[in-house]
Amino acid sequence: MKMWKGRFAKASTASADEFNASIGFDQRLYREDITGSIAHAKMLGKQGILTGEESALIVKTLEEILADIEAGKVEFTIENEDIHMNIESVLTQRIGQTGKKLHTARSRNDQVALDFRLYLKKETDAIDGKLADLLEALVTLAEKHQDTVIPGYTHLQRAQPVTLAYHLLAYYQMFARDRERFADCLCRIDRLPLGSGALAGTTYNTDREYLAEELGFAAVLPNGMDAVADRDFALEFLSCCSITMMHLSRFCEELILWSSVEFGFIEIDDSFSTGSSIMPQKKNPDMAELIRGKSGRVYGDLMSLLTICKGLPLAYNKDLQEDKEPVFDAADTLNASLGIFTEMIQTMKVNDGQMAMAAKYGYMNATDAADYLVARGIPFRDCHEIIGKMVLYAIQNGKALDELTMEEFHSFSPAFDEDIYDKIAIRSCIEAKKSAGSTSFDSVAKQIADIRAGK
Ligand code: ARG
Repeated sequence: MKMWKGRFAKASTASADEFNASIGFDQRLYREDITGSIAHAKMLGKQGILTGEESALIVKTLEEILADIEAGKVEFTIENEDIHMNIESVLTQRIGQTGKKLHTARSRNDQVALDFRLYLKKETDAIDGKLADLLEALVTLAEKHQDTVIPGYTHLQRAQPVTLAYHLLAYYQMFARDRERFADCLCRIDRLPLGSGALAGTTYNTDREYLAEELGFAAVLPNGMDAVADRDFALEFLSCCSITMMHLSRFCEELILWSSVEFGFIEIDDSFSTGSSIMPQKKNPDMAELIRGKSGRVYGDLMSLLTICKGLPLAYNKDLQEDKEPVFDAADTLNASLGIFTEMIQTMKVNDGQMAMAAKYGYMNATDAADYLVARGIPFRDCHEIIGKMVLYAIQNGKALDELTMEEFHSFSPAFDEDIYDKIAIRSCIEAKKSAGSTSFDSVAKQIADIRAGK
């Protein structure tokens, strides 16, 4: 029998029940739901809305139900629609009339908003931990590769030489900001909706501050209608997930390219690669491709919830039941992707030699050759043209710039001297960068030192 059966003359059809029910997916909120109910029952007891015995009995039974759910001893039913009514129904089966009193001064609307916020607090925490692991892996790899030279690209064309450490630290900064974004998002998740009732507040002398304290919320939401109607905190969470997935996806794209024979910069460990069912020689970077693909799925989760919320009149509408699956999916996907990604970069093999080779033959010292002429008083635009012609000549003759003879240099400009070789050696190009935050060896060492010092 439905808990809300009173007003109805006729039962809903089985198909309507099935369509309406969320227990299939919101059962994973059982712990949050029980935690919220325990706090609510304690508050009702403290405020004299329930007697001390009633409150204590409810708390004790809810704790037993929690243990039983965890032991797989509780069966949820579609008839009880969602996790909230399923647990309340088990409670009432066990303690009768007293169980029926739990829902005093509460609605499922503030209850579900509470459960969802508790769940997101936990997930944000888990993601924060995974991001911290990834950051640690990145800085550790960067420390190891401060001397590994690699082409830096723009338009996927070789542009200027950088160190692998510098490249990795670029991602470090992105993921560090992702972490900040989750922490900031948590500030708004961390507000208590419970006690708002269905939308207008309740007629009982409740103590919402006490609830916030019991449940570990930083603040109480000041408007009950807002508390039950909005899911902006979940949207923020989804957008944080989307941005982090985007960063992972870009990195994965590079790992996929780098692991191709064409690049040969890295080798992804066998334990994170797969083979082909037909081509015996293949070793595919499936994990990286999947993370790249899953970023699309997480953006979809964000779009779903944005669209679900758009146009909803205040306050609660059942559309909001559709908020859960995209959020669960995004959280699960990001959690799994972060874990796999970190292990993948910890175990990949870096081919320093191949990277250095690519850095040598990319004409990436052309800007430095131009700067050399600038230092000899030639205007930058003219230098740009001279070096451009030199590069064309070098390409046609299959040489790197520093493989040209002094005679060849002089045929482009008399301003070149013997020291040009030193100035345009790839390591010199890196060393010569002076601006703060550059790829120079010193700057990268400082970036690492700052990270290690927690700056
Ligand atoms: N299962 C519902 C949800 O997920 C709980 C809230 C139901 N509230 C209501 N007024 N029907 O949103």
